[in-house]
Amino acid sequence: MLHPGDYIKDIFQKPVGAEVTARGWVKTIRHSKGISFIQLNDGSGFTDLQVVVDHQTASEEALKEISTGACISVTGELVESPAQGQAVELKGNSIEVHGLADAATYKLQKKGATMEFLREIAHLRPRSNTFGAVFRVRNAASYAIHKFFQERGFAWVHTPIITASDAEGAGAMFGVTTLDLMNPPKTQEGGIDWAEDFFGKRSFLTVSGQLEGEIFAEAMSNIYTFGPTFRAENSNTPRHLAEFWMVEPEMAFCDLDDDRRVAEEFLKYIITHVMDTRMDDLEFFNKRIDDTVLSTLETVVNSDFGHITYTEAVDILEKANKSWEFPVKWGVDLQSEHERYITEEVFKKPVVVTDYPKEIKAFYMRMNDDGKTVRAMDVLVPRIGEIIGGSQREERHAVLVEKIKAMGLPLEAYWWYLELRKYGSVPHAGFGLGLERMIMYLTGMKNIRDVIPFPRTPGSAEF
Ligand code: 4AD
Ligand code: MG
Repeated sequence: MLHPGDYIKDIFQKPVGAEVTARGWVKTIRHSKGISFIQLNDGSGFTDLQVVVDHQTASEEALKEISTGACISVTGELVESPAQGQAVELKGNSIEVHGLADAATYKLQKKGATMEFLREIAHLRPRSNTFGAVFRVRNAASYAIHKFFQERGFAWVHTPIITASDAEGAGAMFGVTTLDLMNPPKTQEGGIDWAEDFFGKRSFLTVSGQLEGEIFAEAMSNIYTFGPTFRAENSNTPRHLAEFWMVEPEMAFCDLDDDRRVAEEFLKYIITHVMDTRMDDLEFFNKRIDDTVLSTLETVVNSDFGHITYTEAVDILEKANKSWEFPVKWGVDLQSEHERYITEEVFKKPVVVTDYPKEIKAFYMRMNDDGKTVRAMDVLVPRIGEIIGGSQREERHAVLVEKIKAMGLPLEAYWWYLELRKYGSVPHAGFGLGLERMIMYLTGMKNIRDVIPFPRTPGSAEF
């Protein structure tokens, strides 16, 4: 049987008098005269089920063995609760202990643990209030992502994790090899002979599924990828991971304006779905993590995103009269402090910035007629900065060849990507949403390490 008891979330929907079996992990247990109170949670929802067991049903000695972290099943009757803040509680008639938890050494004790400490016990933290809520929201957002695209006729394409091409042309890739690093085969010139490696050429973990996504958009019209991506950039910030999940739609017959509209509708859809299905968790975040979470999400759903060009953004930043850590002038990449100023202080809502200088963006973005800027877009949101990066792609073969050369990238590596521009090329566009940045936005969590089950960052790959 899939779940031989009842999920605790469903137990709360049952009428008083119902006979139920609740299963889960003990949050707390306390004993008073003749009776013990257990807070039980199975991860199905935010609210713990209060279980009341009288010492006639189970001996006090047996109950005292049960402590925080133990796994138990309780069968009994749902009764009205005299306690505040809960309508019903479970009057236990029998208890089965699946696994005790040694109270002296169990690391997830009730309160006051820091986020840093909880990261060190990533095998236990999903049982805490905060992380249970984070991972339910993450699940709901992931479901919303599939639902959004499936409802609109997009096909989910599974692009490869191991690849020989650098999709962003930025060189921030993890190598994949089975060569003996102490004694690698050498070429005549003395370098490593990658032809001898597992794949017969140098291979990496993908930074993005976009290029392969484009192949499928030029066959199935509208597609999306959704999977793990990897970046070997050594940025130890609260917004960067070495392994993160990215959603990348790719749309044929689509320009940057369409792309921008899809991105806006998409973000609003995810937020609406999570608000409809996980209000219990969102209320917790609003109360305990960041009291602007709910008002921010409501504002986003009900307002139109702003839109400015990069050139306009630079103009705003130059006139801002602020002492930036990274000085601004036309041509520089926008840093987090600039992005956040624009979205948090100027617009006070999400903003899409488009048409960036070609030098600071990837090789595949479509060149504008000015010869200086490309059809790029970044969606910036308060608290996070960049949450989405996307563009209209260069669909003109000759222009793309020049672009790849100008950026010093190897033409041969992109042979198949270039062929798409020779056979049935079409204007197309897409974007990438970093799932973890979205979860930070939804929950108010301040560090990206706390919205992914097992964070991978420089110097850390435990679990
Ligand atoms: O802006 P990026 O690098 O764009 C791409 O990879 C394109 N191929 C997307 C496309 O057009 N199909 O990354 C997209 C998003 C960013 O806006 C950010 O939300 C997230 O991915 N992201 C990261 N999230 C966590 N850790 C990192 N190191 C990230 N790098 C990018
Ligand atoms: Mg980007």
